[in-house]
Amino acid sequence: MNADLVVVGSGFFGLTVAERCAEELGLDVVVIDRRHHIGGNAYSEPEPTTGIEVHRYGAHLFHTSNERVWEYVNRFTDFTPYVHRVYTNHGGEVFPMPINLGTINQFFRAAHSPQQARDLVAEQAAELGGREPANLDEKAVQLIGRPLYEAFIREYTAKQWQTDPKDLPMEVISRLPVRYTYDNRYFNDTHEGLPAQGYTAWLERLADHPRITVQLETDFFDASQPVSKGSVVGQVPVVYTGPVDRYFDYAEGALTWRTLDFEEEVLPVGDFQGTPVMNYADADVPYTRIHEFRHFHPERDYPTDRTVIMREFSRFAQASDEPYYPVNTEADRARLLTYRDAARGERGVLFGGRLGTYKYLDMHMAIAAALSMVDNTLAPHFRGERALV
Ligand code: FDA
Repeated sequence: MNADLVVVGSGFFGLTVAERCAEELGLDVVVIDRRHHIGGNAYSEPEPTTGIEVHRYGAHLFHTSNERVWEYVNRFTDFTPYVHRVYTNHGGEVFPMPINLGTINQFFRAAHSPQQARDLVAEQAAELGGREPANLDEKAVQLIGRPLYEAFIREYTAKQWQTDPKDLPMEVISRLPVRYTYDNRYFNDTHEGLPAQGYTAWLERLADHPRITVQLETDFFDASQPVSKGSVVGQVPVVYTGPVDRYFDYAEGALTWRTLDFEEEVLPVGDFQGTPVMNYADADVPYTRIHEFRHFHPERDYPTDRTVIMREFSRFAQASDEPYYPVNTEADRARLLTYRDAARGERGVLFGGRLGTYKYLDMHMAIAAALSMVDNTLAPHFRGERALV
């Protein structure tokens, strides 16, 4: 194998490292991925009968306030002016999210001013009377009061975690944002949009460099493959973006994750729900939300008589499931510390990305972290200024 660097995983983290090392440092980079496609969880593809772009691993909305990341991503794709908004169905009625003055006034059938709404929520949040909250349930009541919590958060959270919020650790929620304006824009970032030609076109452009070779359906732990842990570690520098516990053969036990199940359906209607994402706040609906992908790209010429929807179900991941969100229990945090120590001792291997660090990262965070790894570690190493690890 003729490579200066091996990158394991072709998600945003791995491809950003590969592109910078190829273009800026002039290195030959081999990127492997065990899936049949590049792009990690940001991968999307057209649903074959309608041509509507479907995000295969859950809806992906790009947003960032990081100017360096924004400049960087714009080298590979244009962005549409898409602005994300979410609604929620509670008790057969639709409310705007995140909880804002519109939600509050609709819910309480009122016309409160911002100050009146603040006073109302503060009064309802005072229910604990100065007592420290004992669980997530009480913490949420302390943050936004019982009526709003019970309507919009409690059963939704129970569905996400398959656990009664009374039995969930408080750390699961640190804050529950309430806006005292009618602004229901979901993200607060300076820049927001969707890649105009789709995520896969963007990711392909990132990988399209004469010094980058991509090998798909190649598992780093499959010793029969030409590029595998046994054959490259210690020989060629490696950036590993797979699960950190898997790298060490689960020596300290497996880190726990939540996963999602998606149920996709093509419906014979031009518009199913009138908006990209509808949450379902109540326990009697088993899914947490429905995505309708046509609404992510109103500018596209999609069929007017068919639409694609995806119902999303959340549950704890088993060993064979896709790991999506770190559960991050106390036991996980203890295991992670041990894995981090082991990772620091693994000569010639850098761990990155959401799986390699056991952290939820938005796309812009994964890209920013990859740019930093190139600047702070890989570039000095390849300039001969210092050893890799
Ligand atoms: P990513 O998981 O994308 O890539 C890792 C790659 O490594 C995968 O392709 C995998 O196959 C490969 N790999 C693992 N083990 C391997 C092995 N042994 N051998 C070879 N390859 C291996 N972000 C955002 O900004 N806006 C959003 O709306 C969303 N929405 C969203 C929804 C859901 C459901 C999730 C789970 C995540 C999001 N994200 C998001 C986050 C986004 O998906 C995340 O930022 C990127 O996936 C991070 O890229 P990475 O490269 O770190 O991991």
